[in-house]
Amino acid sequence: MLEIKDLHKKYDNGPVALQDVNLTVKSGEIISLIGPSGAGKSTLIRCVNRLVEPTKGEILFKGKDITKLNNTELRQMRKKIGMIFQEHALLDRLTVMENLLSSRLGYVGFWKSFRRNFPEKDIKEALRLLDRVGLSDYVNTRADQLSGGQRQRVGIARALLQGADILLIDEPTASLDPKTSREIMRLIVELVKERDITAIINIHEVNLAEMYTQRIVGLREGEIIYDEKAVKLSNESLTLIYGDEDWEVSTMENENSQQQEDPKSNEAPRSNEDPEKRVESMSDQEKANIEGERHRDQEVKS
Ligand SMILES: Nc1ncnc2c1ncn2[C@@H]1O[C@H](COP(=O)(O)OP(=O)(O)OP(=O)(O)O)[C@@H](O)[C@H]1O
Ligand SMILES: [Mg+2]
Repeated sequence: MLEIKDLHKKYDNGPVALQDVNLTVKSGEIISLIGPSGAGKSTLIRCVNRLVEPTKGEILFKGKDITKLNNTELRQMRKKIGMIFQEHALLDRLTVMENLLSSRLGYVGFWKSFRRNFPEKDIKEALRLLDRVGLSDYVNTRADQLSGGQRQRVGIARALLQGADILLIDEPTASLDPKTSREIMRLIVELVKERDITAIINIHEVNLAEMYTQRIVGLREGEIIYDEKAVKLSNESLTLIYGDEDWEVSTMENENSQQQEDPKSNEAPRSNEDPEKRVESMSDQEKANIEGERHRDQEVKS
């Protein structure tokens, strides 16, 4: 489906962002691309639609080498490659429907689309997609009145309306709350499966990558250094990809912060520990502090 061979990218006056990248993504696969900031994740997916020009290498998609397409061919090919990037964000002054239909600009002529005379068929399909992503009540809402999660849903619907066979998604959950992040990931996975298309998702939240995608590819300093089924991801894998860290501790921090951020969760954090054991393990200073609190409480009451 997508075969990347010996891909290199060196930015002009910039670093080598990718080297010796070889990656095959099968039709219907959903993969997560993880790795530290600056590893080259965005560069890699942008090379696929040539928003970034590769320095060397091949990108075979639908039987053609994307790196060799001329402008006309590239325009045709890009219809099949859906991008859900922050930079391809919505046109704020247009409505949700207009934003969706703007993805058809390549198909209907400039003047027609300028006057917003879109074919009935496109409008029907757009309405169906908006319903599918849960936005039927927002068809005529201006994009600047949407929440982050709703904007992401419009972006997904727009990429699908365009008729893409592969979705390139850069940080779909950046700046979303933990629950919305899961909803967006779930939606992406459902839609990709329903349509039997393919997706590459750049993502920093490793737990979401594990939960929602089948395969995890790790990039570090421009090279693919990890490529396994998602179920195989271990603390050792994370150290290989990101470097030394106490992954157990950071997982707990993550869970606690999610609990605080989720507005529906008012439960106290769960603890499996025996309270007596917790007291035993306290330092004298901690015990003294608690004693101090108790005395103050009693003073107030008396
Ligand atoms: N347009 C550019 N010009 C010059 N250098 C660039 C450009 N875009 C990215 N880089 C550099 O290329 C390297 C890879 O960047 P890239 O944005 O692909 O990383 P990333 O893995 O997506 O990081 P993040 O997780 O922070 O989004 C970095 O060193 C970055 O500074
Ligand atoms: Mg990036």
